[in-house]
Amino acid sequence: MPGIKAIDHLALPVNDIQKAEHFYVDLLGMELEMRRFNPNGKPRQTYVNNGSQIGLFLPGTPAPATTTGAPRLGILYPDRRVLEAVLEQLKQEAILFEGPVGDSCIPGIECAVLLDDPAGNHLDLCVLKETIPDTGISHLILETARPETAREFYLHAISLEEALQREGEICFAFESGQFIVLKSVPQLSQRTRLAGRGVHFALEVTHQSFEETVKLIEQYGGAVEGDPRAADGLRPADEKSTYFSDPDGNPFQMSAFSATRTGSLCDEDRWKRIQENRAQQGRKLARWEIE
Ligand SMILES: [Fe+2]
Repeated sequence: MPGIKAIDHLALPVNDIQKAEHFYVDLLGMELEMRRFNPNGKPRQTYVNNGSQIGLFLPGTPAPATTTGAPRLGILYPDRRVLEAVLEQLKQEAILFEGPVGDSCIPGIECAVLLDDPAGNHLDLCVLKETIPDTGISHLILETARPETAREFYLHAISLEEALQREGEICFAFESGQFIVLKSVPQLSQRTRLAGRGVHFALEVTHQSFEETVKLIEQYGGAVEGDPRAADGLRPADEKSTYFSDPDGNPFQMSAFSATRTGSLCDEDRWKRIQENRAQQGRKLARWEIE
């Protein structure tokens, strides 16, 4: 029984929050969920939602967009009619895209439109032949410079099923119907190596499998990085989470969520709690949190 259930949410690098909000909300049609600010009022993150939460994280990455087609994120639309309406919006603002195309390394895709967001994140806007309930994310395409090591990692530590292999690509399936594709590259792009502060792909794991999966991640060449949110007093008592990276350094989070998944604190209460917790631990706010 696989412990990892699904891709839950994403945190992407952006370097201009206004441009990113306009792109994801006004053009791609996502809901504006929440804006986060530093204690001095400077913008830090915006969260948008299309059925899954997508965090747009400043300051982004200095790395240019890749030419390998990865990392690439699959954004799910319920049907072609909704996708066509989005394409109309993109055309009105003269934003370039490719497609809709039918061919894809992802099984079950009816069509996909390929484009970049203003920060150079590659996106696939997808319609599936059979849609996946309760998510807005269909897939992730990531780079690997160590395909055999990565294959073992995703099969045995993350417990995914191998769905498809073709020239330089391995596709793994989640039980949710979502996919991760590993694309072999001679060397990792700067974009993969310098993902950007806080950037991650978040997976949901069962409570029963959490500790065992942590051990397997380390055993199969990943690195487990702990949970700064828990240290800051922001994690509910019945929720477990850790950040980790795969053997190529792709940044992930894995969470066994609280039964209630309560809403977030407002910025003021959140910073108060962070500062109280760090004072008890003899720690201060980081430079980038007050600059
Ligand atoms: Fe997260």
